[in-house]
Amino acid sequence: MIKNPSADIARIKRMIKDKKSVYIRTFGCQMNVADSLVMKSILSDRGFEFTGNLEDAALIIFNSCSIRDHAENRMFSNLGLAMKKNPSAGFILAGCTAKRHGSKLFKRFPRLGAVSAPSEIFSIGEIAEKVIGGGMGIEALAGGVYGFVPRVGDISEYVVIQTGCDNYCSYCVVPFLREGEKYRSAGDILREAECLAASGTKEIVFLGQNVNSYRDENEGDDFPALLRRASEIEGILRIRFLTSHPKDLSPKLIEEFKRNPKLAHHLHLPVQSGSDSVLKRMNRKYTSGDYLKILERLRESVPDIALTADIIAGFPGETDKDFSKTLGLVRKADFDGVFVFKYSPREGTESYKMNDDVKEPAKKERLTAGLALAKELALKKRKAYIGKKVEALFENDDVGHSSQNYLVFKKGAKAGEFGEVVIKGVSGFRLMAE
Ligand code: SAH
Ligand code: SF4
Ligand code: F3S
Repeated sequence: MIKNPSADIARIKRMIKDKKSVYIRTFGCQMNVADSLVMKSILSDRGFEFTGNLEDAALIIFNSCSIRDHAENRMFSNLGLAMKKNPSAGFILAGCTAKRHGSKLFKRFPRLGAVSAPSEIFSIGEIAEKVIGGGMGIEALAGGVYGFVPRVGDISEYVVIQTGCDNYCSYCVVPFLREGEKYRSAGDILREAECLAASGTKEIVFLGQNVNSYRDENEGDDFPALLRRASEIEGILRIRFLTSHPKDLSPKLIEEFKRNPKLAHHLHLPVQSGSDSVLKRMNRKYTSGDYLKILERLRESVPDIALTADIIAGFPGETDKDFSKTLGLVRKADFDGVFVFKYSPREGTESYKMNDDVKEPAKKERLTAGLALAKELALKKRKAYIGKKVEALFENDDVGHSSQNYLVFKKGAKAGEFGEVVIKGVSGFRLMAE
């Protein structure tokens, strides 16, 4: 028996009209942004077209994030809403939430055609064909290999060098959702970067959960060697990377910062806490002293390097005193930017077994204090650039980023422009240049 013929007919009409039009929405970290770009390239290779309007789409893909409860719930409510707005579309839930909840999601969302784990992004073509053809209950939750797809790039583009994570910080779901660390071959990475450069990309941002543990299993390149080789690609003017784990930041990488002029002077180095007992329970494998020493070494070698970090407020057992140590470290570190997150217990992780004893008002208070300090430092750091020169790359007309990853605004600058600009003032968090 045909269950809902009018919905099927509406979908077929849309397919003819819109030539397999797809709407993709991305949640979560840069890794998901990069995965969505890869999925887009694969789908456009197969004749799919993209729309920014979900009501026009024959296929809707949500690339999801489960890092915190709040992120997951927001994604679910958006998915439910999309299903109401466009009930005749096919739906794929890709990414970390698909991996986390798997086939249980078909019950909660009966219109869902497929669930697809992050490791399966290279199968998106087949999955999409099936779902757009009316397939339901499709599962692609394990396996998959990170492949290669030629991409046309913008001025700045992500290139994935490593997937998964072996660190098992006690609060974090990522190792369970993205599986163990795997490294792409230096050959594939450089080929992708070359393709991007040929299509006009000027900056590449290498991505992985822990880029410093990168190694090419055949050719033996470590991360600094990969950076060196990438900087030899013609047309690539600047290289960034994230994320680094403090325990793996090698002296060799610091040396590379000194000798490689194409490396941007910015490092995102999440610290998570300034209390050694909290760091221990987080399984971070360094102390606050170790961390500050690394920053010292970095600043000695690269005086104008901008340093940013993540911190978590309200980890189990964290006292007011612990959190003031975190604020103390943030001030000492004199960060250029800090992302502050409220602790969110995630089932399956080690800290889920600990008592989530910091009450919501205390978590909120710590979050607010962390954000206020982050803002104070960020503004101070930016104001210090007034009257100085910075190296800026403009990704769009008028708007670009300095080597330190500050947003730079220069009226009349054209997308792709690269060079030194003089900073005349600060507006919000933007450097205003001439
Ligand atoms: N691999 C990267 C990114 C991890 S996720 C890294 O190691 O930094 C990004 C940030 O989310 C983390 O740095 C951490 O600050 C935060 N985070 C992860 N799990 C969390 C949780 N359960 N509750 C609150 N914040 C969390
Ligand atoms: Fe999560 Fe830690 Fe891995 Fe980062 S290093 S993804 S915080 S387990
Ligand atoms: Fe979220 Fe997965 Fe990234 S859980 S933060 S999208 S690795």
